[in-house]
Amino acid sequence: MKVTVFGAGYVGLVQSAVLAEAGYHVVCVENDLNKVLKLKKGIIHLYEPGLMQLVKKNLKKNRLKFTTNLKYGIKHGLIQFIAVGTPIKNHQIDTSAVYNIVAKIAKYMENDKIILEKSTVPIGTSEKIFCLMQKILKYRNNNLTFDIVFNPEFLKEGTAVSDCMYPERKFLEQISKIFEKELGRTHVLKYIHAGCGYGGSCFPKDIKELIFKSKSLGYNPKLLNAVEEINMIQKNKLFKLIQYHFGPNLYKKIFALWGLSFKPNTDDIREASSCTLMESLWSYGAIIQAFDPKAMKAINAIYGKRNNLKLMKNKESTLERADALIICTEWKNFYFPDFKIIKSKLKNPIIFDGRNLYNPKYLKHHGFIYYGIGRGESCVKLKN
Ligand SMILES: NC(=O)c1ccc[n+]([C@@H]2O[C@H](COP(=O)([O-])OP(=O)(O)OC[C@H]3O[C@@H](n4cnc5c(N)ncnc54)[C@H](O)[C@@H]3O)[C@@H](O)[C@H]2O)c1
Repeated sequence: MKVTVFGAGYVGLVQSAVLAEAGYHVVCVENDLNKVLKLKKGIIHLYEPGLMQLVKKNLKKNRLKFTTNLKYGIKHGLIQFIAVGTPIKNHQIDTSAVYNIVAKIAKYMENDKIILEKSTVPIGTSEKIFCLMQKILKYRNNNLTFDIVFNPEFLKEGTAVSDCMYPERKFLEQISKIFEKELGRTHVLKYIHAGCGYGGSCFPKDIKELIFKSKSLGYNPKLLNAVEEINMIQKNKLFKLIQYHFGPNLYKKIFALWGLSFKPNTDDIREASSCTLMESLWSYGAIIQAFDPKAMKAINAIYGKRNNLKLMKNKESTLERADALIICTEWKNFYFPDFKIIKSKLKNPIIFDGRNLYNPKYLKHHGFIYYGIGRGESCVKLKN
């Protein structure tokens, strides 16, 4: 079967590669020419375990093609997956890229199509897509038909390939359940652990959009408000602990920072706690020496060259002359470090552990001052 996927981001590229692996003939339409040129050579612009191999294998087998040519994509697939970005703008999801594609499908389709919507969109979008399709097809005066399937994406970056190959569950047209807490609950359970806050492209956006939508319907979503508020508090927690320890003035203090991506096994830094923390530290004059196994390029693209950020080649080199160590992302590589090395390299044996990776008692016994989230020194020091 032939399928088309619009968007070669975390969702679209994974979907394309997995469908190709399952034997479908996939055309992935991406409007960023640079990405397409690289993808055609098997070079992928994002980090996702197992994805590069899958892309390369299926390019070779000729089951996966990348293009910027929208008309070619529309002609190709019976199923048209929409997986383009829908960023938040002014507290609302910007769905313009989705409608843009829908309009083009209606304009150029030459046979019946199934439109499969994967991008995160507000409640009521399927209906609007339906009306837009009908309007354009009516204008074209032909008898083509179409179906719309809403298939929200549940992949977790870092395990996206296996999530897509072996999905836990499939929801169809159950978006209304969001307001009945179903989705909210599963997401909340999956994402919220004690730590320095959640990030990423999806969950924060879902929460913001649902709060906005609820309020516009005259409903005060207390649970969602609390989720967002708590996350803001958690994101500021490490900074507060650092200021508690060192005092408000952090001028020329050097911090070793382990982990920049919003979670392990991804290079995605959208809404990452590390960014919130770094910006706070910089505003008080601190210098950061950071390491992340995959997200350094993305951080460099946002913050560029600056005197107060040094991206180091490994986790050990961040420790040189640093006043303390901070953990922001729970990469496996950070789970069992050599604490002797850490102690010998740091100016002070202080660890701010935003992911509660280490045992407070063990570290105290070995001469460290350890702040976790709600444990170690932090328990008694901060109320929030
Ligand atoms: N990343 C996740 O973990 C995740 C999980 C669930 C849902 N989602 C949702 O899925 C959607 C895609 O997310 P993502 O993380 O893959 O985004 P992304 O920003 O990584 O990728 C989107 C891609 O779409 C491309 N694009 C934009 N407009 C286009 C157009 N008109 N034609 C072709 N390509 C176009 C962009 O260039 C980009 O490469 C979003 O709505 C997101 O909220 C993402």
